[in-house]
Amino acid sequence: MNIRRQNKSSTASRLALQLRDARVLVVGDVMLDRYWFGEVNRISPEAPVPVVKVDRVEERPGGAANVARNAAALSAKVSLLSVVGRDEAGLCLRRLLKRDRVAASLHEDRSVTTTVKLRVIGRQQQLLRADFETVPSHEVLATKLQDFQRLLKHCDVVILSDYGKGGLAHIARMIALARRHDKPVLVDPKGEDYSRYRGATLVTPNRAELRAVIGSWSSEAALTAKTQILRQRLGLGAVLVTRSEEGMTLFRRGSRLHVPAQAREVYDVSGAGDTVIAVIAVMLAAGQDMESAVRIANRAAGIVVGKFGTAVAQPDELFPPLRKE
Ligand SMILES: Nc1ncnc2c1ncn2[C@@H]1O[C@H](COP(=O)(O)OP(=O)(O)OP(=O)(O)O)[C@@H](O)[C@H]1O
Ligand SMILES: [Mg+2]
Repeated sequence: MNIRRQNKSSTASRLALQLRDARVLVVGDVMLDRYWFGEVNRISPEAPVPVVKVDRVEERPGGAANVARNAAALSAKVSLLSVVGRDEAGLCLRRLLKRDRVAASLHEDRSVTTTVKLRVIGRQQQLLRADFETVPSHEVLATKLQDFQRLLKHCDVVILSDYGKGGLAHIARMIALARRHDKPVLVDPKGEDYSRYRGATLVTPNRAELRAVIGSWSSEAALTAKTQILRQRLGLGAVLVTRSEEGMTLFRRGSRLHVPAQAREVYDVSGAGDTVIAVIAVMLAAGQDMESAVRIANRAAGIVVGKFGTAVAQPDELFPPLRKE
């Protein structure tokens, strides 16, 4: 083995160990992505709609659960704190998360139904999506905050995955607690009011999410100026704008880093944002700096957009040197 090859493989094995030691806590709205696939051969006699004869069902963890699953795929130790209903979808999520080696603290709220996004697919196209969702109760959210304080001590990095379903009512308090314990906090934002993300280490809006807050931009210079004002006003360490086919841009104090998109083929972009924040968190927890974390996350996003539905990037796809020879 020549020296260069030896160095490369020892760096790879060191990284593999660091990934295994990385501890990430994910908090946010979980959901179940459910797909019903079937044949369409006739129109219903009841209404002018197709009849789908379902012959295959697929279920995947969605929302914050997809973020957790993406982090766990890189062999990090991942805890997930969230709320589900006392129902079949909640049980299904528990089972899927266990399979994916995510340590799930799921509070059961009898008064809500677990969030489910059901897609009916026939003839290779989505015919219908049906959403089931309700906002968790105040009591359950308060016990969740207590759990957060307990879990915080055992993690290196926190992800707050805000899907706007009400599970992060105490987000400002969570950020303050995490910062007091010196833990980096990464936030995937929703909505127009970012004041509740004040003090976060990194916020990762996509283009539309950022536009809803700073308005549109006519040039890169305008984007930079507006984003830097937002970052400064809210005391954020960094803002990472994910820009779909344009890649992503990281804004920190006095600096801008753009990383172009890497996808070789684009099949399904849903969940790419979940992959991005999960990979950055694992890399930071494994001791990498923000810039390398962003570059690796961009590579991971390029991999998952080439797969069906919400997907994960596996370590051997992301780090070819880790592949067993
Ligand atoms: N069409 C595309 N072509 C190439 N890369 C893409 C494409 N869409 C997404 N990506 C990659 O995935 C990253 C995240 O995608 P995007 O900005 O769409 O996030 P998002 O809207 O939060 O995704 P989602 O909410 O579906 O999880 C991009 O920064 C890029 O690296
Ligand atoms: Mg997103």
